[in-house]
Amino acid sequence: MIKVITYGTFDLFHEGHYRILQRAKALGDYLIVGVTTESYDKNRGKLGVIDSLATRMENVKNTGFADEIIIEEYVGQKVLDVQRHNVDIFAIGSDWVGKFDYLKEYCKVVYLERTKNISSTDLRKIKYPVQRVGIIGNGRIANRFVVEAKFVSGANVQNVYNPRLESAGRFADKWELTAFDDLEKFYAATDLVYIASPHETHYEYIKSALEHKKHVLCEKPMVLKKSQAEELFDYAQKNNLILFEGIKTAYCPGFNKLLGIARSGKIGNIRNIEACFTKLENKNHRELTDLNFGGSFLELGSYVVFPMLKLFGTNFKNISFETTTADNGLDIFTKVSMSFPAGLATATCGLGVKSEGRLLISGTEGYIVVAPPWWKTTEFEIHYEDPNIVEKYNENFFGDGLRYELSDMLYLINGIEKNSFKLTAKDSIALAEIMEKFLAVER
Ligand code: CTP
Repeated sequence: MIKVITYGTFDLFHEGHYRILQRAKALGDYLIVGVTTESYDKNRGKLGVIDSLATRMENVKNTGFADEIIIEEYVGQKVLDVQRHNVDIFAIGSDWVGKFDYLKEYCKVVYLERTKNISSTDLRKIKYPVQRVGIIGNGRIANRFVVEAKFVSGANVQNVYNPRLESAGRFADKWELTAFDDLEKFYAATDLVYIASPHETHYEYIKSALEHKKHVLCEKPMVLKKSQAEELFDYAQKNNLILFEGIKTAYCPGFNKLLGIARSGKIGNIRNIEACFTKLENKNHRELTDLNFGGSFLELGSYVVFPMLKLFGTNFKNISFETTTADNGLDIFTKVSMSFPAGLATATCGLGVKSEGRLLISGTEGYIVVAPPWWKTTEFEIHYEDPNIVEKYNENFFGDGLRYELSDMLYLINGIEKNSFKLTAKDSIALAEIMEKFLAVER
């Protein structure tokens, strides 16, 4: 009996999938089909898959070609599967030519001609119209956003707005976008607005974008007043619009794995959290020169208080700030102490002081320590009283991470997911409240 194996995501099952399974089966007597898990696809950077694993497996089964369906969940699994199942032929589409030659040591490798003019990516575009993305504010982060957005199918960065047309024009030339200095025209050409303008302008831009019925992804800190956050989320909800705060950590796969494990009771009840994020900033940059809205906490505070809100909730009892300031009065290092009904938290951040960027979560049975940079979580460990027991976890984090927030936002816009549990309106409102309290402190 000749055994054949093939793999795929098989999202939005199409003719190309049907034909490859048909031809793979014809190569032998017994066909094994490996279908990828959501987390495997995420881990290899394939974002935007729509059908669940169960649906994708069901669709493969319905072709009648597969004698056995297995799940592909990690890199390197193919070598093991081929040996475990005594596979004679590994078959895959011609888009992968050469990529699986390493399997020739174990079986025959066949690349089958790919069916022309059809792919899951194309079908996703038909099913869910591509969101035309427009950027407001073309500073450093906006450059990174354009690069990251290219990894997300379903969104196309097309426009940039800046009241100074010359500035928008330079950015547009660099990234092949259309520049606008007229907001009305910009909104008319845009479905999803990414706001990366200075912090203090966010509120007005979000408000006007929502009023023009646009979905909004806004850089952190989204707004600097609790009442503003409440008003904006209320408006967005009433108008069926998606309003997202862009804190990349919130959407990072490793960080979400960490939250799940922390909440699972593995370290008992969580009683203390410490988070630190420092980034030595150029002294001439806005972050260290804007006397009203510069400084470490406005820049990095959203990150460092975020784990506390996710693990202890948004009902903090006390919050206090201590800062070290530069000659111009801006905080170059800030320490925030918070107390919650369940425990204590300390968040530190700095643009002018360097420290270790780690996150420590302490519980009644053990602790979790996340390796720097924890805000792009890739590795963490669980320790217990017995120092010989250490559990290690890891997860990929691609590029700058902005792709994850955009991808999650599209799931909501397209109705594939129903709620933004990773960073809720309640979380963003609490973050705005904390910013407001920080700004209210006399320095
Ligand atoms: N395939 C094919 N012809 C197509 C599309 C896919 O033969 N037109 C094959 C692939 O080469 C692979 C298998 O089907 O062997 C599963 O591919 P998958 O990545 O799931 O499908 P795509 O349509 O390529 O998905 P995407 O657009 O998300 O990359």
